[in-house]
Amino acid sequence: MIQPILRMGDPRLLTVAAPVAEFGTPALDTLLQDMFDTMRAANGAGLAAPQIGVPLRIVIFGQPELNSRYPDAPVVPQTVLINPVLTALDDIQVDGWEGCLSVPGLRGVVPRYLRLHYEGYDAEGQAFARTVEGFHARVVQHECDHLDGVLYPMRVQDFTRFGYTDVLFPGLDASDD
Ligand code: NI
Repeated sequence: MIQPILRMGDPRLLTVAAPVAEFGTPALDTLLQDMFDTMRAANGAGLAAPQIGVPLRIVIFGQPELNSRYPDAPVVPQTVLINPVLTALDDIQVDGWEGCLSVPGLRGVVPRYLRLHYEGYDAEGQAFARTVEGFHARVVQHECDHLDGVLYPMRVQDFTRFGYTDVLFPGLDASDD
């Protein structure tokens, strides 16, 4: 079921979420389905459980398959990532525009690590790990920040590159965050 997405200013977005202790439960299945329903309805690139008011270390992101209309778009596989641990592979950070379903209508430039190793558990409790870079690495860092109560505006360094999407990018379809 589509759930309401908490918006910046809600104190529940600022808390540190707790690890998932039990996998394969009906409650976890329902939560993940709610998260996917909510992310898709909002046309989001990712979603963290705290954004729908559930203080657990769960993020989802990515698309089920390549959209043939945008063959050059960065491909991030549809992923459930639970109890994630992120490790930057080096010190290199790159700037990139970000938005957030909890900060609707705005975009900002945020530095993120370019190359990232991450590991965690899938919905069934199977451990997995990936080494990624670029947009994929950015999405994971953004979503996992939510698990520690960090919203991307807190990481904006140059506030001349933070503003309303329709003002920054006239004509852009701003429906997706
Ligand atoms: Ni977000």
